[in-house]
Amino acid sequence: MRPNNLEANQSDPENGVNAMKNTAPSAPLAPTPSGSGNYKLKLFQLTMNLVAHILIGAVVGISMIFSFQYGLPMNATLQHIVLCVIGYQLLTSQAILSLSPNNGWSGHLKLIHKRRAHWILQTVGSGLAIAGNFIKIIDKSVHWNTLHGIFGLVALIFTIVSLVNGVTSLWAFELRKYLPSNLSKISHILFGTIAFASSSLSLCYGFDKGMFRNWLSDALAHTLIAFTAIFTFIIIIDPCISFFSKSLRAIRR
Ligand code: HEM
Repeated sequence: MRPNNLEANQSDPENGVNAMKNTAPSAPLAPTPSGSGNYKLKLFQLTMNLVAHILIGAVVGISMIFSFQYGLPMNATLQHIVLCVIGYQLLTSQAILSLSPNNGWSGHLKLIHKRRAHWILQTVGSGLAIAGNFIKIIDKSVHWNTLHGIFGLVALIFTIVSLVNGVTSLWAFELRKYLPSNLSKISHILFGTIAFASSSLSLCYGFDKGMFRNWLSDALAHTLIAFTAIFTFIIIIDPCISFFSKSLRAIRR
């Protein structure tokens, strides 16, 4: 039996009528007289999603140009930037967005494939980010003496917890005897969101470092900090909404 069987029946695009709705290419954007409000909301969400992707591209691209400016081999700091930024801001952000109903590249995937894309991106992204964190931690002799490092540590802890908790969430149906399925899903959303938001906070403090501002200029470093804040906000809206709605449903039951 495949993971998360409970929810699969509610909105799984593989099932019955939903399957047809979800696979018709123009269905999500087709305006209907009764659903024009819905259509506008969808357009707004798609636009926000596009903005997030453009900002992610700018932030990740500029971080890579910065890190590869002296070529290879790289020192520990530059290696940690490449691994953390690709792990968190590129792959983890896509892992979160892959589950969003109006995400560009995953919007037309079946639910089972969205979930597969999510856990693969999440596992690879977390692996790279954890490695990037440890490379810099091993390189330093005094620890947690900057806000950048402290938010990096919070991100690291929640990434590890969220990875373990992601497995229980993926197999929530099978593990329901030992762990209430709602609990593992709700906590997975919470831990994952905290991990991603803290990694973005750490990145903003990273862009504020002299080594980065001297290379790019103060104005552009501040622009990248603003870009990071905006795409992080857009990305965590959906998980926050599902966290509150799932929690409310669980409390009311
Ligand atoms: C998501 C991105 C990032 C994460 C999660 C992250 C995380 C970390 C962690 C955990 C440490 C070790 C802290 C300690 O042991 O005290 C660290 C140190 C450091 N990082 Fe990053 N980092 C990121 C991006 C960056 C960027 C973009 C830069 C520079 C442009 C940068 C520059 C540094 C430097 C110079 C240190 C050593 C000084 C310090 O601890 O603040 N990092 N980072």
